[in-house]
Amino acid sequence: MSDDAAKTYPPSAEMAANAHVNAERYAQMYQASMDDPDGFWREQAARVDWIKPFSQVKDVDFTLGNVHINWYADGSLNVSANCVDRHLETRADQTAIIWEPDSPDEDAKHISYRELHSQTCKMANILRDMGVGKGDRVIIYMPMIPEAAYAMLACARIGAIHSIVFAGFSPDALAARVNGSEAKVVITADYAPRGGRATPLKTNADQALLHCSDSVKLLVVKRTGGQTTWVDGRDFDYNALAADAADTCEPEEMNAEDPLFILYTSGSTGQPKGVVHSTGGYLVYAAMTHEITFDYHEGDIYWCTADVGWVTGHSYIVYGPLANGATTLMFEGVPTYPDASRFWQVCEKHKVNQFYTAPTAIRALMGQGNDFVTKCDLSSIKVLGTVGEPINPEAWNWYNDVVGGGRCPIVDTWWQTETGGHLMTPLPGAHDMKPGAAMKPFFGIKPVVLEPTTAEELTANPAEGVLCIADSWPGQMRTVWGDHERFEKTYFADYPGYYFTGDGCKRDADGDYWITGRVDDVINVSGHRMGTAEVESALVAHAKVAEAAVVGYPHEIKGQGIYCYVTLMGGEEPSEELRLELRNWVRTEIGPIASPDLIQWAPGLPKTRSGKIMRRILRKIAENDYGALGDTSTLADPSVVDDLIENRMNR
Ligand code: WT7
Repeated sequence: MSDDAAKTYPPSAEMAANAHVNAERYAQMYQASMDDPDGFWREQAARVDWIKPFSQVKDVDFTLGNVHINWYADGSLNVSANCVDRHLETRADQTAIIWEPDSPDEDAKHISYRELHSQTCKMANILRDMGVGKGDRVIIYMPMIPEAAYAMLACARIGAIHSIVFAGFSPDALAARVNGSEAKVVITADYAPRGGRATPLKTNADQALLHCSDSVKLLVVKRTGGQTTWVDGRDFDYNALAADAADTCEPEEMNAEDPLFILYTSGSTGQPKGVVHSTGGYLVYAAMTHEITFDYHEGDIYWCTADVGWVTGHSYIVYGPLANGATTLMFEGVPTYPDASRFWQVCEKHKVNQFYTAPTAIRALMGQGNDFVTKCDLSSIKVLGTVGEPINPEAWNWYNDVVGGGRCPIVDTWWQTETGGHLMTPLPGAHDMKPGAAMKPFFGIKPVVLEPTTAEELTANPAEGVLCIADSWPGQMRTVWGDHERFEKTYFADYPGYYFTGDGCKRDADGDYWITGRVDDVINVSGHRMGTAEVESALVAHAKVAEAAVVGYPHEIKGQGIYCYVTLMGGEEPSEELRLELRNWVRTEIGPIASPDLIQWAPGLPKTRSGKIMRRILRKIAENDYGALGDTSTLADPSVVDDLIENRMNR
């Protein structure tokens, strides 16, 4: 680590001179945010327009049994008015959203703030007519098309709580979220084109709704015009309705603490939990981090390649950028279609100034060679960003040298669905960068490194342990939908008085932070977060499977791959066909993102005498690091380990 700590890339003099935040200002603002959090966040709240001003800034308690998180709690505002209406006076004709379709042969769209306003209002009026009101839940299951942003903003406008389900999730996963949130309406599209293929979203939604209440309605946006079946009375044709809908709609006055959205995410146990984000604090935090982390300036073209189905798409495609009156690019496709030059061609075509993507995409593109990049003019790019998983130095260096031409700072943003926005990142004009380091806390964030077993705070440098946050910030999640107890147990029980992130971390001799990955049973596959427990329960739901244990293992492109140990029911024979069947089974149960990479037939799983599966051992074998299995003496039957090593899949 001392080597890592030595290799630094300072911001260019030009960047340091022009950035919103330089080193000196960072130090001064960070100190202010620690010394007087109330004063600091009172000032930052002026980033948004309030209908009714708040009196109290913060009311927070992290004590187990009494956890509550309130920011600006007696203020009121409307998020859609903040992201759209308030820009009409000064920038009605400015492009709010550049939409780049899956196929480069189809025309891009430039949606002005004026058009965004009328489209959002139309969608809001349609939803109201369908019976959606303040506090009702709406599921959004959409391709990356402008209507997905209209849908989010329309919900915010009428005070409905949206919950986006990534279009790569299966009908079963969709049904679970419709039911979990007791949604009134699902907004979807006929098809979702991606990488030259089209997912039949409407058909998926039809299947999902077989498992939901009859009262759930479906609002269908036409994307391809491909064939779908239609259920009269249940299905609503968005395009037909929008043609006649009024293009103004009064925004609902919302309390700062009213939920803005629910987003389901995986944990280490049980089913995905509905992360609840607020209206006021969330918007302030998304807007601030978007401007400062990416050093966004008036007139810049900003592109985040995420999908709105993930929190990155919420905070950094839609809410943060639009609250700031930015031009945000929305891309429907994938990095490798029609070829591995697509990202860079889009950057050139739209003169992108800030480009934000995931390490998994960088690794995949790096493998295709430099020509795909160097043939494009990337001189417009000023800042590069990454998110979702640790970035290995090799990928970082390629991103820096080949994509950034050595002139663009890279912001390695560490955060989570739960945090609403960036918690740690170097700032482009303020900090030296180290390849692979999340570097510095954002304003108001107080990271602490704890000794995992004693929970003792490690104050000296260097330090390594679990990462917790000592105090709240406005973008923090407020609860788990319908299960506040689970919220408290998951995040506030293990390390009393702190928010527990689930990540491990090192702080180097310079005091800079490096995220080392999850310390729980959450894995990160191509930047998609997954609970191993979810894949296990999908596997054991198959009639031929008796038992299953799932772990992550290092994967060159995906970061982590999904490694499954499967014990079959008595009498069932392992075969390649069965392997394929199980793979497809998991895809149907959860979605393609959960496809097992490796399935090993396990006659038995290593268990303690009390029957607990020893995952540590399974992880080691999957990592092909079985020389260091550690103590296996507590195993009920140590011989199963020999068989697992013998037949390991990752060699
Ligand atoms: C987990 C959160 C934040 C939006 C996308 C993922 C890992 C995220 C980084 C980073 C190292 C990272 C952590 C975290 N992670 N960003 N820059 N460096 N690890 O959100 O699906 O909620 O996943 O992703 O392990 O806990 P998420």
